[in-house]
Amino acid sequence: MEFIIDGKKISQEIKDEIKEKVGKLKEQGREITLVVVLVGSDPASQVYVRNKQKACEYVGINSKTYELPETISQDELLELIGELNNDNRVNGILVQLPLPKHIDEDLIIKAISPLKDVDGFHPENVGKLSIGQPGFVSCTPAGVIELLKRYNIEIEGKHCVVIGRSNIVGKPMSMLLLRENGTVTICHSRTKDLKAITKQADILIASIGKPAFVTKDYIKEGAVVIDVGINRDENNKLCGDVDYENVKDHVRAITPVPGGVGPMTIAMLLQNCLESINYK
Ligand code: GUN
Repeated sequence: MEFIIDGKKISQEIKDEIKEKVGKLKEQGREITLVVVLVGSDPASQVYVRNKQKACEYVGINSKTYELPETISQDELLELIGELNNDNRVNGILVQLPLPKHIDEDLIIKAISPLKDVDGFHPENVGKLSIGQPGFVSCTPAGVIELLKRYNIEIEGKHCVVIGRSNIVGKPMSMLLLRENGTVTICHSRTKDLKAITKQADILIASIGKPAFVTKDYIKEGAVVIDVGINRDENNKLCGDVDYENVKDHVRAITPVPGGVGPMTIAMLLQNCLESINYK
C-alpha cells in the first residue's frame, strides 16, 4: 500500500475551515441554525445525533434537537416539520433515520423544505444532483468525493465501481463520480459475477453492509478502495465492508474503518449547513 486515506485528519481540516467561515459570518451578525429531529430511542441514532450536536458546537453552528417519543403520530411530525420550514431562524432540518414503522419515511423526507434539506434526501435535491444543478448532496457520498480530491486521486476517466445502490449512498455516489467524469458501474446484490466487475475498478466503493465482504480477489492490484461500511464483526468490533488485513498490501490506498469515511459524513453535514444560508 502507498498510503492510508485518513478521514479523521481530513474531516478535522474541513471542520477547522468551516469554523473560520462561521466565525466570519458571525462577525457580520449572521447565525446558522440546524434543527435535528430524533424520534424514539434507538441507541445508534442517539450516538449519531450526539456526534452531530458536538460537531455543530465545535464549528459554531447553533443546533437544536427535538427528542420525540416513539409514539408520535405521522401528522404530529409533519406539523413540526411544517413549523420548522416556516421558521426563518432555522437554516437546516435533519430528521434522523430510521423512523418508527408507523411513519412513512418518504413522506417525511418530502415534507422537509428542499432549501433546508441538509441531508440531501429530498427528491428535488436528488433530481438536481442527477441533472447537474446545484443543491444539497447526501453527506456520505459527498465526503467520499472530498477525500478523493484532497488526496489528489484522479476520478476523471477512471473506472469507478460502486457496490450498493441505496438512496443514501450507492445511487448518489454513482451520480457524483459521474459528475467528476468517472466511468461508473453500479453493482448490487443481484449482480452476476461480481468479482469480474469489481476487479476492473480503478476506484472501488464498497457500500454493501456485510462485514469484511470484499477480499483481495475482488480487487485489481493497485486500485484505490473506499470502504463505506460500518458493521460489527463476530467480536462486536467495528469493521467495514472490506477485509482490511486481507487487502492492505494489494491496494494503492484504502480508507480504514473507523477513521475513514465515517468522520467525513459529519464534516459534509456541517458544509451543507454552511451552504444552507445561501438558499434562503
Ligand atoms: N441514519 C443513518 N445515516 C443517516 C444520515 O446520514 N442522515 C439521517 N437523517 N439519518 C441517518
